[in-house]
Amino acid sequence: MSANTIEHNRTRQNFDGVSSVWLFGYGSLIYKVDFPFLEKRPATIRGWQRRFWQGSHDHRGTPEAPGRVVTLIENREARCKGIAYRVSPSVFEHLDVREKNGYLRLTIQLTFEDGSHAEGLVYIATEDNEAFLGHASEEDIARQITSASGPSGPNSEYLLRLAESLRMLGEECPHTFAIESHMQSAHNVDTKGG
Ligand code: SIN
Repeated sequence: MSANTIEHNRTRQNFDGVSSVWLFGYGSLIYKVDFPFLEKRPATIRGWQRRFWQGSHDHRGTPEAPGRVVTLIENREARCKGIAYRVSPSVFEHLDVREKNGYLRLTIQLTFEDGSHAEGLVYIATEDNEAFLGHASEEDIARQITSASGPSGPNSEYLLRLAESLRMLGEECPHTFAIESHMQSAHNVDTKGG
């Protein structure tokens, strides 16, 4: 599948007669909210885990030196906490462009903190997209993120802002925190000249 998913996403859901839709954000959609929303609530999804396995050629890297950003990988035991936004369907015109590098809108069940549920949409970059990079050690991912930068800024800023937002949400994400800690140790070695 081509990495540009704009056209794909336009035909995936029918918003006729729909006044608002829940959107689940688990990556940059948690901290970079450049779209209007009607309501915002912490929420959890089951069966998916956050992984820095998607390449970013357009935001946090370049085609020659892609960065790494998060996607969701299926895991029956896993749960992933993020932020759900209730948005007008027109917001997807903007979001489809922002998330165009391999992400498809999938329907998912959200659970809010009070135990209530709702159906929502989530952008997931599946393994069959051209920009998918897949598994690497957290140390190697940290190295790649440290050296990558793109039109939206350094890849390290994406990682650090996400880690900070997850801590604020009370989301324990060992994968994100391990990459953060490898980046910080490498930085300390560099600055101490060791
Ligand atoms: C998301 O945040 O929900 C999708 C991935 C991203 O844009 O970082």
